[in-house]
Amino acid sequence: MMRLLVVCVLFAGALAELKDWDQYNLVWEDNMDFLDRTKWVHEVTAWGGGNDEFQVYIDDEDNCYSRDGNLHLKPTLLRDNINPLTNRSYGDEFLRSGELNLAELYGRCTNVENNGCIRRGALRDIPPVASTRIRTMGLFNFTYGRAEVRAKMPLGDWMWPAIWLLPAGDEYLDEWKYGRWPRSGEMDIVETTSNRELEFRRTGLPAGIQRAGATLHWGLGRPENRWDRTYAHRYNGSCNFGDCFHTYVMDWTEYGVAFYMDGYEVLRVPQVFANESDSTWKGFHDLGGPWMNPEPELWNSTMAPFDNGFHFIMNVAVGGCNGFIPDNEIAINRQCNQPGREHLCKPWDNKDGQVLGMNKFYERRNDWYWTWAQEGENRAMQVDYVRVYQRD
Ligand SMILES: *[C@@H]1O[C@H](CO)[C@@H](O)[C@H](O)[C@H]1NC(C)=O
Ligand SMILES: *[C@@H]1O[C@H](CO)[C@@H](O)[C@H](O)[C@H]1NC(C)=O
Ligand SMILES: *[C@@H]1O[C@H](CO)[C@@H](O)[C@H](O)[C@H]1NC(C)=O
Ligand SMILES: *[C@@H]1O[C@H](CO)[C@@H](O)[C@H](O)[C@H]1NC(C)=O
Ligand SMILES: *[C@@H]1O[C@H](CO)[C@@H](O)[C@H](O)[C@H]1NC(C)=O
Repeated sequence: MMRLLVVCVLFAGALAELKDWDQYNLVWEDNMDFLDRTKWVHEVTAWGGGNDEFQVYIDDEDNCYSRDGNLHLKPTLLRDNINPLTNRSYGDEFLRSGELNLAELYGRCTNVENNGCIRRGALRDIPPVASTRIRTMGLFNFTYGRAEVRAKMPLGDWMWPAIWLLPAGDEYLDEWKYGRWPRSGEMDIVETTSNRELEFRRTGLPAGIQRAGATLHWGLGRPENRWDRTYAHRYNGSCNFGDCFHTYVMDWTEYGVAFYMDGYEVLRVPQVFANESDSTWKGFHDLGGPWMNPEPELWNSTMAPFDNGFHFIMNVAVGGCNGFIPDNEIAINRQCNQPGREHLCKPWDNKDGQVLGMNKFYERRNDWYWTWAQEGENRAMQVDYVRVYQRD
């Protein structure tokens, strides 16, 4: 009975034809045959993405390279990366006694929040994992249009890959029209958890790589992020989001935004677009209410805060403590339910925070690193292309 239910959910949904392609022109594309530094810039920071994630983002060819025409974003253990000041691997000793001064090592640091630019081994706060986050900030942004991405997500336990957009301009220079995150919005085309075996305890449904989500984040403040009113997932039982390439489209107009995976509609906000005759849409302030301190004047257009330029971000985060990767009470790797296999459960808790969480994670590396090693190149997020189309 359970199986039957799962099968139905996995294949639910109808192919949705995106109309009016003839009215759209390609305005920007990257075929990812090489890392084009006129389009993308690396983030360099140990900040943790605002979610207490465990990686330091650096600009290193071991973590970001093109192969077979696809850009690869691959996490590594920092100890195996080359320290550019010594030309030797960082090694584990660096994690215990070194100083990760990102501006000194890589020439710049892009986010100073949460001690993002300098970490010290003596304080045990050097992230044990190196990874990549690249963005088009300052180089490309667009307002309304269709974004199409063909990519596959990384495989191996406890990664959190994403292809998404944030407002144009620099949040920390207060260049975002409606204020800092999430007041000016965030659009997530695809994100997933990279585990092959992760499943929800209650339903038995996949919580890992067989499931991908699309989400809008927006709200009047951090505690009032109303993403839970604008997200949806898609399951693919025939070929998961890591073993196969999939096509993701975001169709963003003045009247609504819709997300597609492999031609199937995943999410539509509002459900009835604002220009349809039976629309009851009164904007995001209305959708998000009640608010602690309403600001009805703030988002004063149909789509606000999604009425301004946004730029792309692609990254492979590892770990994190904001709940995106659920604790063991909610979801577990299937094998960890068996006696003697408890060590395959998640090695940290979301209440830990970045420093404790990443130390627990790294101490238990023998329990998960093999899942990275066995995937070979599939440990990397692989991006075939990103394209943006706009109306005439
Ligand atoms: C490291 O290698 C680079 C290029 O091979 C070289 O330019 C640099 O001088 C070396 N630095 C050290 C500290 O050996
Ligand atoms: C967004 O892109 C436009 C060009 O389409 C450019 O004029 C503008 O400066 C960009 N905005 C930011 C904040 O980078
Ligand atoms: C599953 O993924 C494959 C490979 O990308 C795709 O061709 C297929 O349409 C997807 N199926 C569903 C039901 O989403
Ligand atoms: C609403 O706007 C969308 C996007 O611009 C368009 O494709 C659609 O045809 C419009 N619907 C109506 C009823 O005008
Ligand atoms: C909308 O609000 C912004 C500030 O949030 C303001 O700059 C703009 O003039 C307002 N537009 C209208 C049409 O009221």
